[in-house]
Amino acid sequence: MTVTIKNSATVGELIQAVAARLDNADLFYGHGTDNPVDESAALVFHVCGLDHHQAAVAYRQPVAVEQLERVDALLTQRVESRKPLAFLLGEAWFAGLPFNVDERVLVPRSPIAELIVNRFEPWLDAQNVSRILEIGTGSGCIAIACAYAFPQAEVIATDISAEALAVARSNVRRHELAARVRLVHTDHADGVAGEFDLIVSNPPYVPAAERDELPREYGFEPALGLFSGADGLDSARRILQDAPQLLSDHGALVLEVGAQWEALEHAFPTLPFTWLELESGGEGIAFIAKADIHVR
Ligand SMILES: C[S@@+](CC[C@H](N)C(=O)[O-])C[C@H]1O[C@@H](n2cnc3c(N)ncnc32)[C@H](O)[C@@H]1O
Repeated sequence: MTVTIKNSATVGELIQAVAARLDNADLFYGHGTDNPVDESAALVFHVCGLDHHQAAVAYRQPVAVEQLERVDALLTQRVESRKPLAFLLGEAWFAGLPFNVDERVLVPRSPIAELIVNRFEPWLDAQNVSRILEIGTGSGCIAIACAYAFPQAEVIATDISAEALAVARSNVRRHELAARVRLVHTDHADGVAGEFDLIVSNPPYVPAAERDELPREYGFEPALGLFSGADGLDSARRILQDAPQLLSDHGALVLEVGAQWEALEHAFPTLPFTWLELESGGEGIAFIAKADIHVR
């Protein structure tokens, strides 16, 4: 796989050429970007060390020969292996922040990012948020982005995977947030004490039957991050059961279940979930206040 492009190309021209090659390959997008152009831009910007906030200027810059060769090598790997680009780069962006990633964690892509950046308004009063619990933190992206969005808050983030927590730890260090983000190795929130104003979770929720139908890209991610019982809702059920004991009186749960949202409604017909609408797309994120969570 060679990118057909002259050595004096600009960043913009290289992005176009790479996007065309990606478009011709039988790839799945959905691990951080959702189309060939955005994936190409992520690859080229990463290799060239460019800032996404300076995109207009960056597009006119020339690309060095070594950068062109590096882009070409990564493009070949992406197309031949089908490994998600974020794993090839060792980095993913979430809520405008960079995170270390590898095959021990899910590639950060939750639509919850948009809610975090907006400090969960109008659903939460940010003034009232001083303790946040994230269940199933993976790379730590949600917990860390929450710590940025709520600079006064303490964040506790759990995961059952020690491997994932090692990646999360590297990200807590990278963002110098060890004083406010505590990582706990446990099953859901077992042993976690105290009350929280917000519980946020993007648990595994892919139904077992869909395992063999997933695009090859998903095979590079840990099964623990994807699957949770026959209907995909084992983890969500557990979180709903535990939440009332963990939330403060004005607290609320934000729970992502993606395409399983109708199944969750059927499983808990008396719970008044609010399904949040997002400008950047995505579905299946429920908001529910503590006062409304009655689970037997
Ligand atoms: C869908 S991933 C989400 C990761 C990260 N929060 C994100 O949004 O990118 C789900 C995470 O939950 C963790 N997990 C699965 N079962 C768990 C359990 N019983 N207790 C705690 N964490 C669990 C997985 O290891 C994985 O890191």
